[in-house]
Amino acid sequence: MAAPRLRLGVNVDHIATVRNARGGALPDPVRGALLAIEAGADGITAHLREDRRHIRDEDISRLMAAISKPLNFEMAATDEMVALAAATKPHAACLVPEKRSERTTEGGLDVIGGHDHVRAATQILKGAGIRVSLFIEPSIAALEAAVSIGAPVVELHTGSWCEAVTQGASEAEHEFERIRLAARKAAELGLECHAGHGLDYETARRIAGLSQIIELNIGHFLMGEALFVGLPAAIAAMRAAMDAGRAEA
Ligand code: PXP
Repeated sequence: MAAPRLRLGVNVDHIATVRNARGGALPDPVRGALLAIEAGADGITAHLREDRRHIRDEDISRLMAAISKPLNFEMAATDEMVALAAATKPHAACLVPEKRSERTTEGGLDVIGGHDHVRAATQILKGAGIRVSLFIEPSIAALEAAVSIGAPVVELHTGSWCEAVTQGASEAEHEFERIRLAARKAAELGLECHAGHGLDYETARRIAGLSQIIELNIGHFLMGEALFVGLPAAIAAMRAAMDAGRAEA
């Protein structure tokens, strides 16, 4: 059976990072989102952090009003964010851990220690008609907790694998194997499986070979490439890498 098409979610946070470096309104993450969709993105992801360091509240409402593809609202499972998402009603919400001091999302959500808290947030979001995904480590225990929490979707954290690949570290294959097994287990458990964090052309191509994964969320690498080749060209190259990897699935 042919593997399902792999969707590309483009994270526009770092367009806002550059905007905020100077204050003002430019570059506009909404323009980036529209351009990304025109270039083939299947959805847009934006992370409203507690400290609003990149995406701001008005970016979320402007994205909701402007884009024709689903918005994946990345958020911590705090009362403030849950209330905001429930009022805004994006297509999807991805629950992530958040620490003020981190530069980007470090590690997966603690779905075991924080089970009841994450479950309560998930129930409220689902009640508002939002598709909930949990950003988790690629581990069987985390997948089982996601089922018990009642989330229909998980996003596997690919950060450790991508970092190991970039550094040429010997654990890279072990990290990939964890992702491969987790993707298989997610499908067995009836969870829709996404993946993301730290992906570039090479790692996206490889992970596209895992047929259970149906969406990749990619931001930082694409925005870096866009500085040199432009956003449409970077997205086209990413799409080609994903399609090539998928053809081998
Ligand atoms: N998925 C999740 C849940 C994330 O937190 C991030 C980082 O914001 C990404 C995907 C995208 O990661 P990157 O910017 O490294 O491509």
